[in-house]
Amino acid sequence: MAKVLVIGGGGREAAISYKFSLSPQVKQVFVAPGNCGMQDYATLVNINELEFDKLIEFTKENAIDLVFVGPEVPLCEGIVDEFLKQDIKIFGPTKSAARLEGSKVFSKMMMEKYDIPTAKYQSFSDYDKALAYLSTQDMPIVLKADGLAAGKGVIISETMDDAKSSLKDMMCNSMFNDAASSVVIEEFLSGYEFSLLSFVHNDKVYPMQIAQDHKRAYDNDQGLNTGGMGAYTPVDIISQEIIDEAYEKIALAMANAMISENAPFTGILYSGCMNCVDGVKTIEYNVRFGDPEAEVLLLAMENDLYEVIMNTLNDEKVDLKWSKDYYCGVVMASKGYPLSYDKGDVITCLDDASCQVFHMGTKLNENNQVTNSGGRVLLVCDSGETLKDAQKNAYNQVSKIKCDSLFYRTDIGNNSL
Ligand code: AMP
Ligand code: GLY
Repeated sequence: MAKVLVIGGGGREAAISYKFSLSPQVKQVFVAPGNCGMQDYATLVNINELEFDKLIEFTKENAIDLVFVGPEVPLCEGIVDEFLKQDIKIFGPTKSAARLEGSKVFSKMMMEKYDIPTAKYQSFSDYDKALAYLSTQDMPIVLKADGLAAGKGVIISETMDDAKSSLKDMMCNSMFNDAASSVVIEEFLSGYEFSLLSFVHNDKVYPMQIAQDHKRAYDNDQGLNTGGMGAYTPVDIISQEIIDEAYEKIALAMANAMISENAPFTGILYSGCMNCVDGVKTIEYNVRFGDPEAEVLLLAMENDLYEVIMNTLNDEKVDLKWSKDYYCGVVMASKGYPLSYDKGDVITCLDDASCQVFHMGTKLNENNQVTNSGGRVLLVCDSGETLKDAQKNAYNQVSKIKCDSLFYRTDIGNNSL
């Protein structure tokens, strides 16, 4: 029986740990650092996701069979390279392959070089040149910070004045710290967005069923972009033909492109896709499970996650199987998110919810009560025979959880209804 270490501490890692714990091949799941909501199915390890030496020491001392890295920051910092040097089995991309998410400039360059469909763009590290280019563009326009910005580094401007002021904030006023010292300015695409995630090892790409995330903070896609306010799967509005096109031209094409660049990809490749009138286009790549897509996808996936990962790594057959049910996950976030918010307010009645509630950002206080400690706090996920049923069930569970400091969108799943 195997021992698995999951690295990370949010809702995505809660879902990954939970899913590993269901595997008949897994004896124990450790999660570093994890959070208080995971203790029913995983052993918390008090090591931060960037303390690579300590994580390696823990892995060796506990004879861990497989390490799974959840978040992008340790991946972009090269955690996989460090573990591979020690001959430890780990699922995730190397630092070089993680540039697909760590640098939007690199990612766009790859799409251009390998003819992968995406929005027209230019990248800049010089403010004056960026401003001159921006002045020639039609509105709306999309500005993207080059580096990691926790899903918040994208600004869509409707007017030239707004776009110019955002560009200045990004490049001159450190709006996203150093992440925006280079920016991508790209064409605004309109269409229907969906997430196609795949288990990848070099040229082997196994697509999951598609999901949709809701990125804006408030109902009807109002408010700022967030890390994601809810997700559902599957997405029937997208035809199999479009999914196949996205698989070939976006997911598989990039896995092959990375091999050509001597940076072969292993791990979860997240293709953010937009179904446009002139074909499906790439919005972005991420090099890990989406959050909250992971939570709904892993509940909908019927396979043993440990077996899927081991078979992927060992080039053995992977045959993904999906529930007939729909899954809908609603994020409960701290009021104020994605800007500043208060922490430490007590959340009650969590046990009244009779579905999976993954903790995203919680902490126990001195009285052992669960409190909010992050922007996104809980992901409440339920299923149903139809998407409408799944949505109704999820919101019914959300209404049982009490905390005045939390808010949520009331329309997760509506796009497909
Ligand atoms: P990203 O971090 O690149 O996924 O961008 C965050 C969100 O901004 C995406 O999920 C889209 O909803 C939106 N977005 C990004 N790029 C574009 C684009 N070129 N056209 C329209 N919307 C976009
Ligand atoms: N939910 C989008 C992401 O994880 O990037």
